[in-house]
Amino acid sequence: MLSNQASDGKRTSLHGHWSSRMAFILAVTGSAVGLGNIWKFPYVAGQNGGGAFVLVYLVCVVVIGMPVMMSEILIGRRGRRNPVATMELLGKEEGSSGNWRWVGSMGVIAGILILSYYSVIAGWTLAYVFKSASGVFAGATPDAVSAQFAGFVGNWKAVALCHTLFMGLTIFVVARGVERGLEQAVKFMVPALLILMFVLLGYAIQSGHFGDGVAFMFTPDFEKLTWDSVLAALGQAFFSLSIGMGAVMAYGAYLPEETSITGASAAVVTADTGIAILAGLAIFPFVFAGGLDPAEGPGLVFETLPLAFGGMGGGTFLATIFFVLLAFAAWTSAIGLMEPAVAWVVEHHNRTRAQASVIIGGLIWAIGIGSVLSFNILADFKFGAGTFFDNIDYLTSNIMLPLGGLLITTFAGWVMCRNSTSDELGSSGALYKAWRILARFIAPIGITFVLLKAVGALDWL
Ligand code: PHE
Repeated sequence: MLSNQASDGKRTSLHGHWSSRMAFILAVTGSAVGLGNIWKFPYVAGQNGGGAFVLVYLVCVVVIGMPVMMSEILIGRRGRRNPVATMELLGKEEGSSGNWRWVGSMGVIAGILILSYYSVIAGWTLAYVFKSASGVFAGATPDAVSAQFAGFVGNWKAVALCHTLFMGLTIFVVARGVERGLEQAVKFMVPALLILMFVLLGYAIQSGHFGDGVAFMFTPDFEKLTWDSVLAALGQAFFSLSIGMGAVMAYGAYLPEETSITGASAAVVTADTGIAILAGLAIFPFVFAGGLDPAEGPGLVFETLPLAFGGMGGGTFLATIFFVLLAFAAWTSAIGLMEPAVAWVVEHHNRTRAQASVIIGGLIWAIGIGSVLSFNILADFKFGAGTFFDNIDYLTSNIMLPLGGLLITTFAGWVMCRNSTSDELGSSGALYKAWRILARFIAPIGITFVLLKAVGALDWL
């Protein structure tokens, strides 16, 4: 295997480094901000009753998401390899065991599984670019918009085509490598998306139903909160922040020595959470204005946004731009989902980046066909959590990511010695102490408790 030990004893990454601190923050933000914020957050919040779910989500982000993100970055930077090799290396170096590599392996698998359905939904956004541009949504009624959506997802060939196109785009960028591929894709997308979200918010404020949207999102009704929705909130926090599967760890491997991990994490967590809340505030007013159901599921934004834009002056233009930006946001996230697997194939199987991207991308594409068919031919074929798509989503977001996060913080908090972590986090002050308490106790115990509660393993208490 290739070695990444430099002559001065510091390790360097085989895949290059970020050109600046800002480039890293943008890349992690690009990975974090995606369909999770704009497509998934509103519908999962809707299905779980709104306010109480949002509150639990925010608590999860701060007390669990933040320490897990910091742990992942610090582990990634210390190991400077793909997540599998990094966990193995550090496991041995810290006097534990090379078996920690299985945490990396689970992340590689989670990334592959998530991208398999993520690409299908991203494909929908590509289709909606063209639909919006054609003007079909101008002045459309709620029923017409819903019918458009049902007609589109019901046509498996169209959905498969869009999924194929999106995977092709993802393979293309990942094959080009860290600096040329990842950085360029991210620089413009996040700021542009943010601007458009504010435009949408401004329109939502005028819609006449803004108060209903705000009330739905921020009035907690704890009666509606079950342990299943607490787990959904935890899973959504992991999914939205891109943590628990090694994506952030892989990006951390390319992080320059002097960058502050705490500062970068805080910036990413704030941006990601802000955009999710913004999306909710922009979307729910139109859900109520159009008489739609907040619990309607994965189609929610594909029905509300066209409706919102359809009623606006210049709506055809803005809707087109919006779906282009959403496709971009999905694209930069997809890159993060594929990176651990690709870096692993490059390092372990001595393949070029291009070859690795095509092999892994092809595999993901094939698994994705199951999700393509979950909205049409196989829509009634249900088991476990529902359709094939529902099961992959549940397994990854609600089980694999929290489990990965649990193992990652346990590793950073208990296995790594104090010197190693304080060396990476660069301080021994109050912030470091807070991180250590969260990473050693609060996050692992919190995740374990929620997982056990949701599967009913604590019912005897
Ligand atoms: N965070 C991304 C989103 O919200 C999804 C993602 C998860 C990306 C895990 C990378 C790793 O859309």
